[in-house]
Amino acid sequence: MTTLLRNIGELVTNDPTSGDRYGIMRDAALEFDDGVVTWVGLDSEVPRRTVDEAEIVDIGGRCVIPGFVDSHTHLAFAGERSLEFAARMAGKPYTAGGIATTVAATRAATDDELRTLIGARIHEMRAQGTTTVEIKTGYGLTVEHEERLARIAREFTEHVTFLGAHVVPAEYVGNAEDYVDLVCGEMLDAVAPFVTAIDVFCEDGAFTVEQSRRIIRAGLDRGLDGRIHAGQLGESTSVQMALEEGVLSIDHATYLSLGDIDELRTGDAVVTLLPGSDFSTRQPYPDARRLLDAGVHVALATNCNPGSSYTSSMAFCIAMAVREMRMTPSEALWAATAGGAMALGRDDIGFLEVGKRAHIVELDAPNHVHLAYRPGENLVRNVWS
Ligand code: NIG
Repeated sequence: MTTLLRNIGELVTNDPTSGDRYGIMRDAALEFDDGVVTWVGLDSEVPRRTVDEAEIVDIGGRCVIPGFVDSHTHLAFAGERSLEFAARMAGKPYTAGGIATTVAATRAATDDELRTLIGARIHEMRAQGTTTVEIKTGYGLTVEHEERLARIAREFTEHVTFLGAHVVPAEYVGNAEDYVDLVCGEMLDAVAPFVTAIDVFCEDGAFTVEQSRRIIRAGLDRGLDGRIHAGQLGESTSVQMALEEGVLSIDHATYLSLGDIDELRTGDAVVTLLPGSDFSTRQPYPDARRLLDAGVHVALATNCNPGSSYTSSMAFCIAMAVREMRMTPSEALWAATAGGAMALGRDDIGFLEVGKRAHIVELDAPNHVHLAYRPGENLVRNVWS
């Protein structure tokens, strides 16, 4: 069935060949058929054939944007850690150690309990405009539990990332190298049928730069994409290492040296900023302006997890990126859609142009600036995908 969205007050396509640099058009229309965009243009120029044959939806002058692409989440978890959050707000620092609490709760949950929890989170995200989501493992940390999380997460998305190297689990404390061997060997074998990427938390209290390099290499050797949690809690040589190894996405990047920015400028990696974690851990926000001005591709994601960022709202992340990280509303929306798609290695989503997936969100607002201008509101009126 062909659907024609008419009377769109502002259409954000992310296609610089239509409209401005972000492909923003006024008084537009968009047609899609069988999940694919088939026509985009001015409402006054809709082809006659389309008007006669399509189901017509009157957008009433509101704004239409591509569906959000949330390229960094940890949705496969049970339990919550609100007391840790309260302690942080009272002055305690965030440390990697809290992950163990969620590992215990997640291991104790049944498969069906996990399915219900993940399903509810995805439902919550979709209601807020997210049409593609990545899910990491990382709260299992045994071969059996990491395989289970990867398998269950795969029921919900094609973008499952193996994060067996989230922290060294209690059973291996003092024996981190043996755990890295397990991650690169038996654990990777077990999750491989379900995952498309490998990730590692490279930070004090988690994995060293050299351990992280081994882990990323093991995944790349298996044909997976590489990702890294780098520069979340402090500077290190992790960014340089990740670029040398050819990762697709460098995530967090709250702490970057000038040298890191120089290397990122010439590298291919997307930098995925996660302001929800900086908000919830009372950290400084990353310097998005410096990255953008250096020409680095930036993505925005929620990092939804119970420890450092318990939000599923991309709009909230856009508002923080605009208010706290000096991104323009257009840059922030691009990062939450096209940027997320780049971070997942996808070129068929994140854009509303002919031939791309029809992942479409209608906002109850006249333009996309309202995403940051009205923080805390869910402005999503309709989602097609
Ligand atoms: O991206 N940094 C590592 N992983 C998550 C936090 C996980 C947790 O604290 O449970 C993050 O912030």
